[in-house]
Amino acid sequence: MRRGFYDRPVPRYTSYPTATQFDASIGPVQHGEWLKEFDGASAALYLHVPFCRQLCWYCACHTMAMRREGTLDAYAESLRQELDLLAATAPDLVIDAIQWGGGTPTQLGTSRLADVGRQIDALFDRRADAEISIEVDPRYCDSEIAEVIAGLGTTRVSLGVQDFDTTVQEAINRPQTFDATATALRCLRAAGITKFNIDLVYGLPRQTLGTLSRTLDQALTLEPNRFAVFGYAHVPWMKPHQRLIDAGSLPDGATRAAMAAMVADRLVAGGYVQVGLDHYAKAGDALARAAANGKLHRNFQGYVTNDSSWVAGVGASAISCLPNGYSQNSSDAARYMAAIAAGGFATARGIAVNAEDRLRGEIIGLLMCCQAVNIAEACSRFGIESDSFIASAEGLAPLLRDGLITMTDGQLAVTDRGRPLVRYICAAFDRHYADIEGKHTHGV
Ligand SMILES: C[S@@+](CC[C@H](N)C(=O)[O-])C[C@H]1O[C@@H](n2cnc3c(N)ncnc32)[C@H](O)[C@@H]1O
Repeated sequence: MRRGFYDRPVPRYTSYPTATQFDASIGPVQHGEWLKEFDGASAALYLHVPFCRQLCWYCACHTMAMRREGTLDAYAESLRQELDLLAATAPDLVIDAIQWGGGTPTQLGTSRLADVGRQIDALFDRRADAEISIEVDPRYCDSEIAEVIAGLGTTRVSLGVQDFDTTVQEAINRPQTFDATATALRCLRAAGITKFNIDLVYGLPRQTLGTLSRTLDQALTLEPNRFAVFGYAHVPWMKPHQRLIDAGSLPDGATRAAMAAMVADRLVAGGYVQVGLDHYAKAGDALARAAANGKLHRNFQGYVTNDSSWVAGVGASAISCLPNGYSQNSSDAARYMAAIAAGGFATARGIAVNAEDRLRGEIIGLLMCCQAVNIAEACSRFGIESDSFIASAEGLAPLLRDGLITMTDGQLAVTDRGRPLVRYICAAFDRHYADIEGKHTHGV
């Protein structure tokens, strides 16, 4: 294998084209038009709350420390107004999943969270089998919050853990005892919630194979239905607070690769099925079933099982994925609230997509979800001639030589060796990759 080649920064492909390609040519008017043209298919509703109690140094998400009641009131009001505008613009929209993300959605506070939840119920038709999920910081989840979360109709809670080792926690400013996590789980289970994800991260500062192994042992005793285990993305040029992390204490590339392999081995041995790149699900779980049946999707929240791949995003920095393109709200919470208060959408950037983008997006999505794709079949669905399309993907030849993929009659399959490097395989279909090399987060 070519040393260095598979260390290049490469996108996580939660969308194609990726957010790096978004620009200011897409604004509130275009977003409104795309919503109006939406043909009544179902979509996930994503709500972003960009606030946390305090900032963790590792965090690469759109969030800030915020406890001011006035700001939290104003933000909740903006969410309600944007939901009103969304329902008025796309009256036929049927919701097939609701994802509360952040930041920490519960930082809104119990009554504001419940108010926004009631607004969603009042405005939209929802499929009976819709998954309703929320990201929770276990350190701030007591019985009262658990009851409100259950009252939103929540079917699944994602608990942020990252690592249980106190040395690693110190290095990322995230003190969190095992007991705090276990207590949050107990409160949520007592409130009637039955499905849980635990988020872990490998490649963190001062993390070793030994500390990660103990974290995995502890996390397995909590018996979540799923794990998401992300490779730490160190992007201080995008997230200046990550400069508080000593880059010299980050594990090197070889250790990261060994950590990724250990995570897969241990979780599979613990009864979980690997799904896509970084998710693990109990064998009977909907994610494992969707992966086995080719029904898995990938969106900005990771791997999902709802029927459609469309997303209506609400809140600062939220991204909508619509048939005609992607549109993203302003990531600056103050600007977002000002735009919504002025009566319009808060779209700041995005990108229109054509049939070729959709074909490339489908191929990349299938590679990320199923590690295989029939390129000839995909091309015919989008009316694109397959021989010349395959010939134009010049990046495939070195991947074949390196044993990362096989290709037979237009059917591309990722080998076991290629699986941890699947994002490099996707990059061979990304016509923007040459322009964006260097702007993305690290590989495995
Ligand atoms: C949006 S965050 C929400 C976390 C939640 N508010 C909490 O405090 O537990 C969701 C997940 O993104 C992942 N994450 C955040 N920053 C990351 C980074 N720099 N690299 C890899 N994963 C990251 C973490 O696993 C985190 O749990």
